[in-house]
Amino acid sequence: MNRPERFERLYAEVRGCERCPLAATRTCSVPGEGNINAEVMFIGEAPGANEDKQGRPFVGAAGQFLDELLGHAGLDRSSAYICNVLKCRPPNNRDPLPDEIEACRDYLDEQIDLIDPLVIVTLGRYSMARYFPKQTISRIHGTVKEVAGRFYVPMYHPAAALHQGGLRQVIIEDFRKLPGILQRARRAAGAPVMPGLAPPPAAPIVAARPAAPPPPPIPDDEPWEYEDGGADFDGEPPMEELAVAVEPSPTAPLRQERGAMPAEAVASPPRDAGAAAEPAAPPPAPTEESTAPGPTPSRIPEPITQPQIRLFD
Ligand code: URA
Repeated sequence: MNRPERFERLYAEVRGCERCPLAATRTCSVPGEGNINAEVMFIGEAPGANEDKQGRPFVGAAGQFLDELLGHAGLDRSSAYICNVLKCRPPNNRDPLPDEIEACRDYLDEQIDLIDPLVIVTLGRYSMARYFPKQTISRIHGTVKEVAGRFYVPMYHPAAALHQGGLRQVIIEDFRKLPGILQRARRAAGAPVMPGLAPPPAAPIVAARPAAPPPPPIPDDEPWEYEDGGADFDGEPPMEELAVAVEPSPTAPLRQERGAMPAEAVASPPRDAGAAAEPAAPPPAPTEESTAPGPTPSRIPEPITQPQIRLFD
């Protein structure tokens, strides 16, 4: 089964999921959406009321701010991948329960395996806890941790700025660091480093990725790296907790393969017509390959009772 097929199967499973009681109260489950070749993956908390109605992540007020933030990072919804820890809305937007997080864990694991991003940005406490247990967001937001070739960046949830206006600029500044972080991640993966933040490959997906070798061991002695936003973080992070929490994707070595992709294959994917983001960095000069008819956003067929899930490739 190739990657798009695996995504289709996963999305179908999420749409029909009955693993936890949230199945009884949801309108639509919200698997996630974006570019399946994305280099940057954003993981939020759980769908809210608007997402529950539409079956798409971050389409309410927090989503509008996220669109703006993506623009500050030179990204948009067609170049990133966005999903949540929980795929269904908790009633009245209450906090996710441990059993619900556990019930959804396999789905998120598979999404990470399939996207195999260079950078994972956690939005808010619940996705942060997956990688940075016992840390507090006010201390580590905007910092970077590299584990097994992947860069992890905890960020405030966009909704935090809606409740606390003072955080708005802090979050914007954190997002502005992403182009530099992505450049570093590309360099670490041996990928071509573009001037500015180029969008991820829109080249056709390689149908069958070779079976991945076993994941490399996670180093537990790497120092943390502090960006400006995390300057107030002065404690020693519990590295052993992080090492336990972060399970490298079994496909991690494939990032090297993506890194070998020729620069001309990195064409700008079509923008999401609804996204209110700033324009991304200009695409590379046209070449034979980049001007050839490229892939258009594909839509996964959905049951009539469910909204369309967008999955750009
Ligand atoms: N908040 C989230 O964490 N996810 C969404 O999809 C919407 C709001």
